[in-house]
Formats: sequence, structure tokens, C-alpha cells
Amino acid sequence: MRKKTNADVAKTSHRMQAADALVIFGATGDLAHKMIFPALYAMAKRGILTVPVVGVASSKWDLAQLRLQATHSIKQAGKIDDREALDSLLSQLRYVGGDYADPATFRTLKQVLGGAQRPAYYLAIPPALFAIVIQGLGAVGLADRGRVIVEKPFGRDLASARALNRVAQSIFPEGAIFRVDHYLGKEAIMNLLYFRFANSFLEPIWNRNFIASVQITLAEDFGVKTRGTFYESAGCLRDVIQNHMFQIVALLAMEPPAYQGYGSVHNEKAKVFQAMRPVDPKDLVRGQYAGYRREPGVARDSDVETFCALRLFIDSWRWAGVPWYLRAGKCLATTAAEALVKLKLPPQRLFDDAVQPGARANYIRFRLSPNSALALAARVKRTGKEFVGDQRELFLLREEGGAETPYERLLAAAMAGNGALFTREDAVEAAWAVIDPVLKKHHPVQPYKRGSWGPKESAALIAADGGWSNPVCDDGATD
Ligand code: BG6
Repeated sequence: MRKKTNADVAKTSHRMQAADALVIFGATGDLAHKMIFPALYAMAKRGILTVPVVGVASSKWDLAQLRLQATHSIKQAGKIDDREALDSLLSQLRYVGGDYADPATFRTLKQVLGGAQRPAYYLAIPPALFAIVIQGLGAVGLADRGRVIVEKPFGRDLASARALNRVAQSIFPEGAIFRVDHYLGKEAIMNLLYFRFANSFLEPIWNRNFIASVQITLAEDFGVKTRGTFYESAGCLRDVIQNHMFQIVALLAMEPPAYQGYGSVHNEKAKVFQAMRPVDPKDLVRGQYAGYRREPGVARDSDVETFCALRLFIDSWRWAGVPWYLRAGKCLATTAAEALVKLKLPPQRLFDDAVQPGARANYIRFRLSPNSALALAARVKRTGKEFVGDQRELFLLREEGGAETPYERLLAAAMAGNGALFTREDAVEAAWAVIDPVLKKHHPVQPYKRGSWGPKESAALIAADGGWSNPVCDDGATD
């Protein structure tokens, strides 16, 4: 692979210097509590967090309260096994309380940041506040040489994503905007890119000539918990399909990057979204789990989907005619994310058991969550005189986690100025354009039982391609 040149860097991979301060907007909120403080502690343990960390929030807290909260959050996420790292993190904490709409809040922040030259601003706040905070930073000159880290959802449809991109880019250059999709920081998802392009055996079969269909499942066996109000404004399509699941599709479908450098990966991923056909309402099944309407914060007559199954097409030379089936939902039978790339059946019926109706074709299975696994499935003959066999999985990878958490990885990358694991403006907008038609026009939700695999209409969507393969435990035998 060609190394990137200076011209490439200038064009697509604007790598920045390391940040010298971290500011967390929404420091007293849920995301900071659950994800950010544990990630900061992990960074402190590895010795890579040596800059001041300023919490900003509208709560009338003081620094002592923020320190207590940070300690509590780290304890909840695991145990405190490095007192020195904890003390170092707590000693770096500062707190600024104030209204985000009040310029005084940003003036105080400026004072607290003192001599920091390249601060990183993490927006762990509701999306409705993104633009206000970005503009507040710009108004007092805090954006100069700074960078902004923005949580998903980035917009709630194509129009709002465009508007938000315009606001963000009027204050920060694109290379200083780090759009977070935490799936990109997951070990198994990073491996999709590596596995596809670090091997040569795959490329000849990785196209419409050999691949019959692809299916991806992101199942959770729990409901919306305390996030009913947020979920009512999002739904499954916005919450995980447009971002997490589309990122998986892009990594599986993209063309080889032209050179070594993340700008090139961003280019190829954006092209996948641009080649996706906008989803037709007849290719989408929306479901809602029994009891959702009684969850706190949820409307009694809510039509918000907690489950989606959809058929997607990528109109490119490589993928023409190959259906991509995506399914995600809450209160399903298990918690797992998996992608299954199904190859075509043998063209000749030499062995009846290999081509009989219902026989599974060879496939490649990527277990993406909660553990990582990668298996190739092929048929082998059973011992005996008959030509009868079974499909077996050959495991290339089987891991039980233990890696850095996505938040630790992404926060460290953004602080270091490495944009590889973030999403770019054109890709975000192209992804919204694919689902925009079904955000506006769709069939009503179909109810489904908790602990099931969603409404029966979801099975009908994929019936012609052999049905859904539900993620199972990784024991190797498949039929
Ligand atoms: C989040 C969604 O982005 O991803 C949640 O808002 C979802 O609704 C979560 O549960 C899934 O992430 P993970 O890492 O637990 O698979």
C-alpha cells in the first residue's frame, strides 16, 4: 500500500498535535458517569492522561462533588485497583458550573483553561445543545486550535445533520471535529477492516459472484431502561441503524483504501453510503416490544420502533443484486451482535445433503459483541461410506474481551489527534440520506413479545434468502 504523502494528509487526514486540556460538557450527566470517567481512569492508569480535565455542567455543583461523582462512577464500572492513578485523575479535575446559553460560562471556562493552547471539548450533552455550546466556544475565541468531540446521534435526519455540520464547520475545521460512534472503537469491528485488507484470499470471493447475501444482527435482551424520553425522540433506526450498523456495513462493503492513511478509509466508507439505495418502506419492518408504552418517559400511544429489520441494496459494481439484511432491537432473545456473509450454494447437485432445501451455504461469521469471534463455515464428509457431511466452523479468532473499552480508545485517539476511528461529514450525511425516506414514511409498528426475535413480518422479509440466523453460543457446530 502506498504511504500517504503530505498532499494526502492535507487533503484528507488532517492529523493534529496532542490536546493539552480536556473539557467535558455534561460532566454531571449519565454518559460522563457511565463511560467517560471510567475511560479517563483507564487512561490515567496507562499514564496517558497528564492534562487538566475540566468538567462543565449546568448543575450547581462544586469541585468536591465532581470528584466524589468521578470516584463513584469508576467504582461502579469496576474496582479501584490503582490509587495513584485515581489520585492523579482527581487532582487534574476542575469544575465550571453555568448555563450553556450564557456567555459568562464560556468566559469562566477560558479563565480556568489558563494557558492551554489546544483544548479538546467533549460534548456529552443532549444533541439539542450541541450547536449552542459550539457557538459559545467560538464566541469567546476558545475554538482556535481546539477540537470538538461530538457524541452520536449527529443530527436526527439529513436536514438537521447538514445544519449541525454547517454550525460545527463554521467554528472548527473538519479535521478538528471528532464524531463519535463507539462501535468504531470496538476490537471486533476494527478487525473487520484488518481482516478484509490484510489477507489476499478473501478479495476474489468478496463480491456479487460468490456472496449470496449478508445479514447483520444487533440484539439486546433488555429494554430502554431509564432512557425512555431519549428513545422516544430517536427509535431504533436513529439509535443504532444509521450509525453502528451502517458502520459495520461500510467496513464489510468498502473497496480497498487507496493508500495507508485514515483519510483513504474515510473516502471508501463514504462511497458505500453514497452507493446505498434509499430504503423503501416495503423493505422495512418496525416493531415495538410489549410493555414499551408503559416505560417511564414513553407516550401511551407511542409509534416509536424498538426493533427494525430492513433490506438494503448497495448499487455498486461489487454488490449489485446482493441483499443486505439488517436487524436490531431491544428486549430480544439475547444480547449479541453478529454479521454473517453467506456464500452461494454449489452450482451442481453432486451431494444431495449439501443442496437440499434448507441446507445452509458456506459462510463467514463475524461475532462482534459481546465477544469477538471469526469463523469460516464449510462442509466436510462424515466418516462412513455415504457421501453425507456437516457444515463445520473453522475458528480464526475466539476472544472474550479484555481489550480497551471503546470509550477509552476513542477518547485517547481524539486527544492524540488521530481521526481514524471517527466519522466524516460526507459519510454521516450520506448515511442519513439512505434512511431519510423511511424516517418520514413508514408502516406502523408491529408488536412483539419480549424475549422473542421481533415481529413475524421480520422473518418474511428475509424468507427468500434462507431466513435469519440467530446468534448462538460459539461452540463450532452449525447444522
Ligand atoms: C448506543 C445506543 O449507542 O449503543 C443504545 O444508544 C445501545 O441504545 C448501545 O444499547 C449498544 O452499544 P453496545 O456497545 O452495548 O453494543
